[in-house]
Amino acid sequence: MRENTSLDKEYWEQRYRQNQTQWDAGQITPPLKAYVDQLTQKSIRILVPGGGNGHEAEYLHQNGFSNVYLLDFAAEPLRQFQERVPSFPAQHLLHQDFFELTEQPFDLVLEQTFFCALPREVRPSYARQMFQLLKPGGKLVGVLFSEEFEQEGPPFGGSPFEYQAYFEPYFQFRTFEPCTNSHPRRQGRELFMVLERRERPQFIA
Ligand SMILES: C[S@@+](CC[C@H](N)C(=O)[O-])C[C@H]1O[C@@H](n2cnc3c(N)ncnc32)[C@H](O)[C@@H]1O
Repeated sequence: MRENTSLDKEYWEQRYRQNQTQWDAGQITPPLKAYVDQLTQKSIRILVPGGGNGHEAEYLHQNGFSNVYLLDFAAEPLRQFQERVPSFPAQHLLHQDFFELTEQPFDLVLEQTFFCALPREVRPSYARQMFQLLKPGGKLVGVLFSEEFEQEGPPFGGSPFEYQAYFEPYFQFRTFEPCTNSHPRRQGRELFMVLERRERPQFIA
């Protein structure tokens, strides 16, 4: 992807308008599908932030999950999603900045190439915002790249060690390991995480 310094709404809107969406897997990716497929409670509140074309939200919706929210600050993918999945409740499409979201807390947040799209300096804020958006015991689940990239991002890579520092104060690590069922293009390059929100943040003095 080309070098970019301002990863604002306009940057992403333009990527969608120009069909430069190489990150888009075209459907829910295998690790998220496997996780979702073993969930039994279909009424839990689920957020898919930076969800773009919304393949995870569509899959959840088509599989009977009734309380799914798709968030993105770019309008174009949400507009296309509404056309593609007209039965998805319009009020569950959140056209806004993730960092400004103050919704009722969620049981589950799904991460799929959102974290890696953000400027590196907001990573600590991402972890804090996830803590604020989840109920105690709620889960942040998804995939993170486990390597650095040669080219300037997005996507921006990182290491498990780096990520742990952001999430440790807010989450207990239930799973945080090399992903074994990645999308073929991402094999050997991802971590799968299931992080459980702590009751309150724990900072080591
Ligand atoms: C690399 S794309 C990934 C989209 C989708 N998760 C997927 O895997 O196809 C990153 C998405 O995050 C959105 N995004 C970036 N920063 C955001 C923010 N601060 N608030 C809401 N959405 C944001 C972009 O508009 C874009 O749709």
